Amino acid sequence: MAEGTGREQWSSTAGFILASIGSAVGIGNIWRFPYIVGANGGGAFLIPYLISVFLFGLPLMVLEFAIGRSTKTSVLTAFRSMRDRLSVAGLAVVAIAALVLSYYLVITSWVLAYALFFTVGQPTDFAAFTGSYIPLIFFFISGVAVFLTVRSGVKEGIEMISRILIPILVVILLFLVVFALTQTGAADGIAFYLSPDYSRLSDPTVWTAAFGQAFFSLSVGMGVMLTYGSYLEGGNLFRNASVIAVADMLIAILAGLVIFPLVFTAGLDPASGVNLAFITLPAVFLEMRFGMILGALFFAMLFAAALTSAVSMFEVPVATMIDSFGYTRKRATRLIFGVIMLLGLPSALSYTALELDLFGVPFLDLSDYLFGTLGLIIAGLIISVVGGWYMDRTRICDEIGGCGWQQRAYVVLIRYCVPAILLITLIATLVQAGG
Ligand code: PFF
Repeated sequence: MAEGTGREQWSSTAGFILASIGSAVGIGNIWRFPYIVGANGGGAFLIPYLISVFLFGLPLMVLEFAIGRSTKTSVLTAFRSMRDRLSVAGLAVVAIAALVLSYYLVITSWVLAYALFFTVGQPTDFAAFTGSYIPLIFFFISGVAVFLTVRSGVKEGIEMISRILIPILVVILLFLVVFALTQTGAADGIAFYLSPDYSRLSDPTVWTAAFGQAFFSLSVGMGVMLTYGSYLEGGNLFRNASVIAVADMLIAILAGLVIFPLVFTAGLDPASGVNLAFITLPAVFLEMRFGMILGALFFAMLFAAALTSAVSMFEVPVATMIDSFGYTRKRATRLIFGVIMLLGLPSALSYTALELDLFGVPFLDLSDYLFGTLGLIIAGLIISVVGGWYMDRTRICDEIGGCGWQQRAYVVLIRYCVPAILLITLIATLVQAGG
């Protein structure tokens, strides 16, 4: 819809918050967070994580909402409205969002496949599944689901799907938590997950893990929250962002209370990454009574989380095509669907018999590192620098409720602290990769 003829809007603040929670709560919460906690000092990890979320992630989220709401447009046009030459920076952010989506959708499609396999009572071995070309079909189906949602619009598509899926997700999660905590391995699982090892806090990699996870989990730094903010009228941005951040964190913590008690009950070792979700957990479910139902519920929950996150990333380039290039929503979604399918193909093929890789690293893992880790930090750096330094100070103040000392402290945070922490995380991540 063109400017001036009435921009699309959320139906209410609650709708906006639910959609943002839908974006934030994703694969990152349900399977990535628990493992990172277990591997980085257990309960002690919550200290750097809380600092990352509230001191750095949350201010960036508020900034994105503020830019979006005040300019009433998406990343590219918003940046261009501050300075012409910022267009390149805007394009970079949009490109990174599309690239992250391209591989995120591949994992989303595996989750969909597993939800279906458990529902029909026939879970397949992961290597056999990914070695076939069946994942390509699921990749296409997941892409279509995202496409149809975004094509239906902000209110009828994105908001609607979050209103339906997020409550379902929470109900399944709570049920699984109660179930997992009553199993025999619950105490051991929780001990692995949360026993604090404070000595780990002196390890800088624990801190960079916390920063990376916090930004990824909150969906900040990729223009998603900026775009969602552009469909928003009124409301207290700090309050709304806090609700989103707290919900995101609670769901992540609860997911660990499902995973580790179950893994330890089955007497298995907690694995990392892809193996945890697609090899260890299915093995756990196969050993349990009612394992098929539990597996189906777990993967359905994960799919609900992943789909609403994928939708939010898809909206970034779509909104750009609408706002900056005058496309209709229908045309924009069709184009972006094609682009994402093409971009995602190498990742989708990387675990098939074709084993598409680069320098021996599967394309999917490479994308996760290049786009999901490095790209996300770079895009976050771009948004914080552009918002902090090029956005009019009084405009920021207008958005965050005045220009008192709190707001001034906030501006310092966003101008100096957030970019500094992102820069340090970027350098540390590169050094770690080289070392
Ligand atoms: N927050 C999502 C998750 O935790 O899985 C992933 C994500 C979505 C990251 C959207 C970035 C983004 F812009």
